Amino acid sequence: MSMTDKDYQRQVEECVSFLKRKLDYTPRTIIQLGTGLSEFAHDIEADYVLPYSEIPHFPTPTVTSHQGNLILGRLGDHKVVVLQGRFHYYEGYSTKEVALPVRALSLLGAEHLFITNAAGGLNPDLQPGSIMVIRDHLNFLGENPLRGANVDSWGPRFPDLSEPYNQDLIKTAFACATACKIDNIGTGVYACIPGPSLETPAETRFLRQAGADAVGMSSVPEVIVAIHGGLKVLGLSVVSNVNDPDNFVPIVLEDIIDAAARVEPQLKKLVTKILSSL
Ligand code: HPA
Repeated sequence: MSMTDKDYQRQVEECVSFLKRKLDYTPRTIIQLGTGLSEFAHDIEADYVLPYSEIPHFPTPTVTSHQGNLILGRLGDHKVVVLQGRFHYYEGYSTKEVALPVRALSLLGAEHLFITNAAGGLNPDLQPGSIMVIRDHLNFLGENPLRGANVDSWGPRFPDLSEPYNQDLIKTAFACATACKIDNIGTGVYACIPGPSLETPAETRFLRQAGADAVGMSSVPEVIVAIHGGLKVLGLSVVSNVNDPDNFVPIVLEDIIDAAARVEPQLKKLVTKILSSL
């Protein structure tokens, strides 16, 4: 095992023992909030709010559209931990660093990862302001968070990814959407690109032809680590804009944040309903 792998393992272990000392119960579900979706945290009956800066080895978000708090609490009677603010590969972090919070929380005993993000639509059937339940992904980061020595107590060397997004959770998500009268919801494949530059028209065409329905710059490292750790994953993308390679319009961050914020009430309702049915 190289020094870097050992260092990483030690960092994760120190983070886990800090969280164990600090928190007196284990969350069942990790909820990772994406761009424009941080309000969700207000619905949680919080028992602990830990700024990322106080947690050993947690990176700190460098983008203003992401806050940095770990919130442990309850939504109904479901114990959740909310990661309010995430790290991205484009910020300069490795995918291992990006996924450190999910690794630590999975070792703490979480069972599910619910991951949310804002994404650009590629499938013309998706409307801006709709929710896409992620059914599969394409990793275009060129990096895998599991590269390097495997820690066998964390998971297998070659984790199976035949069902990266849990089918039962996907079915539950659609049933709950119906119950909540949310009809602007679909399913699709999420492509993760490194960013921070947005896609060119030619890249957009390529991603669509490769089978992607939406594109973004996050989530896939955390999903891979969650699967490695045996968690069940649900991914929800808020489609903030839809990119047509033949009629390409500029993609503006403020528009993405606004669109995500508009969908947030529905997303909150949906996630709350799904949690109550687990
Ligand atoms: N491309 C990449 N990431 C995004 C987009 C997009 O169009 N919209 C929101 N996140």
